[in-house]
Amino acid sequence: MVWRPAVARTVPSLRRALAPWRRSGAIALVPTMGALHAGHVVLIRQARRRARRVVVSIFVNPAQFAPSEDFATYPRRLADDLAVLSAEKVDLVWAPATAAMYPPGFATRIVPQGAALAGLEDKFRPHFFAGVATVVAKLFTQASPDFALFGEKDYQQLRVVTQMAKDLDLPVKIVAVPTVRERDGLALSSRNVNLTTAERAVAPTLYRVLKASARRIGAGEAIDTVLADGRATIERAGFVVDYLEARHPLTLAPVSARKDGPGRLLVAARLGKTRLIDNISL
Ligand code: PAJ
Repeated sequence: MVWRPAVARTVPSLRRALAPWRRSGAIALVPTMGALHAGHVVLIRQARRRARRVVVSIFVNPAQFAPSEDFATYPRRLADDLAVLSAEKVDLVWAPATAAMYPPGFATRIVPQGAALAGLEDKFRPHFFAGVATVVAKLFTQASPDFALFGEKDYQQLRVVTQMAKDLDLPVKIVAVPTVRERDGLALSSRNVNLTTAERAVAPTLYRVLKASARRIGAGEAIDTVLADGRATIERAGFVVDYLEARHPLTLAPVSARKDGPGRLLVAARLGKTRLIDNISL
């Protein structure tokens, strides 16, 4: 028989579906905005290793898009997504309408600080982490998962969500999943479908520069010099660079020398109309 996950569209129906499962084992939540790709699938498979029941949320969260951003054109493919989730034998899809998530009169926001103010994504998308933190806190209280899985691809988001769960004593374990890449190194992203053929060909430059920079910094070259070279290489490939930075992996504070300890290299750059981000450990 073909497996079909149940789809909940309201908070009461979500809770009704989850209540009996909670008594018989762990529940893992994979929050997504849909347009599922092989990176999301890895999160789902990791969720399955942790928990008896796997819930995937699909919600394109208006609160994390600025008016100038791509909320209207963000890919929405619920039918394709349901096929992926069926193949993965996901137990439940949580797909609320916007009015179920943000009913009229909604008036509360979670505004994270610390890593959310590191001067990375927040500098270019100032509304972003309050939108993410608010919706993720709601997803956690709606579904009360034992585990929630997030990708390292969105590294600052992972840090912000992990800290938020800790700060608010939310009884959920955040599990980080390494970035899933195409064969040429490009990090999988729902936005990659927006790249033209020519842009797709140069997109792996980001990962190549991250790797080359990490190698040079590891060999003892000055971080500033390496990052300046990296920015120039990315620009030569046709990107507009938002940032290429070396940061502390937990606090995301700037790191000026390799001897200061472990680090993370993070990049964001725009290629035509598409904004790409990536990161690797140092
Ligand atoms: P979305 O971009 O759909 O990503 C959902 C999850 O998949 C995130 O945890 C993200 O880091 C992870 N992911 C995306 N691409 C990945 C890749 N190539 N490898 C590994 N993991 C990857 O991130 C969001 O949605 C939203 O901000 C959300 C957390 C759902 C809140 O609205």
